[in-house]
Amino acid sequence: MKILVTYDMFREGFTELESKYEVTFPEGRDFTYEEVYEMIPEYDVLCSMFDFPVNKELIDHAPKLRLIANYAVGYNNIDVAYAIEKGLTVANTPDPVTAPTANIALGLLLDAARRITECDRKLRTLGKKMKVGVLENLGAPVTGQTLGIIGMGRIGKALAKRANAMGMEVIYHNRHQLYIEEETKLNVTYVTKEVLLAKADFVSLNAPYTPETYHIIGEEELRRMKRSAILINTARGPLVDEHALVKALREGEIRAAGLDVFEFGDYPLPELLELDNVVLTPHIGTQTLETRVIMAKAVCDNVIGFLEGDRPVSRVLRP
Ligand code: GLV
Repeated sequence: MKILVTYDMFREGFTELESKYEVTFPEGRDFTYEEVYEMIPEYDVLCSMFDFPVNKELIDHAPKLRLIANYAVGYNNIDVAYAIEKGLTVANTPDPVTAPTANIALGLLLDAARRITECDRKLRTLGKKMKVGVLENLGAPVTGQTLGIIGMGRIGKALAKRANAMGMEVIYHNRHQLYIEEETKLNVTYVTKEVLLAKADFVSLNAPYTPETYHIIGEEELRRMKRSAILINTARGPLVDEHALVKALREGEIRAAGLDVFEFGDYPLPELLELDNVVLTPHIGTQTLETRVIMAKAVCDNVIGFLEGDRPVSRVLRP
């Protein structure tokens, strides 16, 4: 049984897998698509990273492949429909991703609301020329305000709990409304997307990237939001029309934004770097040493569970 890992990763999470099977890793960098394409015909299992494209071409070049184990909760990098049609299993790692991503969403929310990074940057760059004083650098209070969560899966729910703890009201929009018991437990209220956009002081995107969620926040949605609203995106970049967001932030159509993901790859549009009312982080939602290792363990559990049937596999059942 041969296992190919596309990404450079701490080996700690992989010890059990390496003790049982032949595992190929890149050294000091990720494998390129071309390298993986060359190697894949020999492999039974592919462990891919969330930004590595597992497309039709690659799947068609992998006659032995049985499992694609993604290092991520998101799987928009994989042609899941085609993989399933070809009889492959696709797996992901939801559990270890939930809390760290909810934490980074909360961090961006607080930072954008209270202008933490902006103040830090101004102190460093302007020094004593920075305007300070009790009437300067006013932010949004957070407590007592309304958070609108679009996408009420595991991460949305984890964020709702955190927001509740801070005294926020939480409304949400999702493909399916939660059962009333769960809504009551989470203290959240289901609303339409239109109501959410009109009512929320903060809009957080926690939905997967699918054709339905592409540009779920575009020019029209930004116009519907309050002028005092703050947008948080820790899901996937293309959920937001980034050009429209630049315009909205520039023209004060919304107050601010906090982004951990960008529409066009690893970096934001250069125009965003010019704006003070946006906090930017480079997809660090799960970027802690501990999370890196437990995500690797979750990948290995999926692989070993699939091959040996001795533990549950987090299977992706549909695109
Ligand atoms: C990270 O972006 C993930 O999907 O786990």
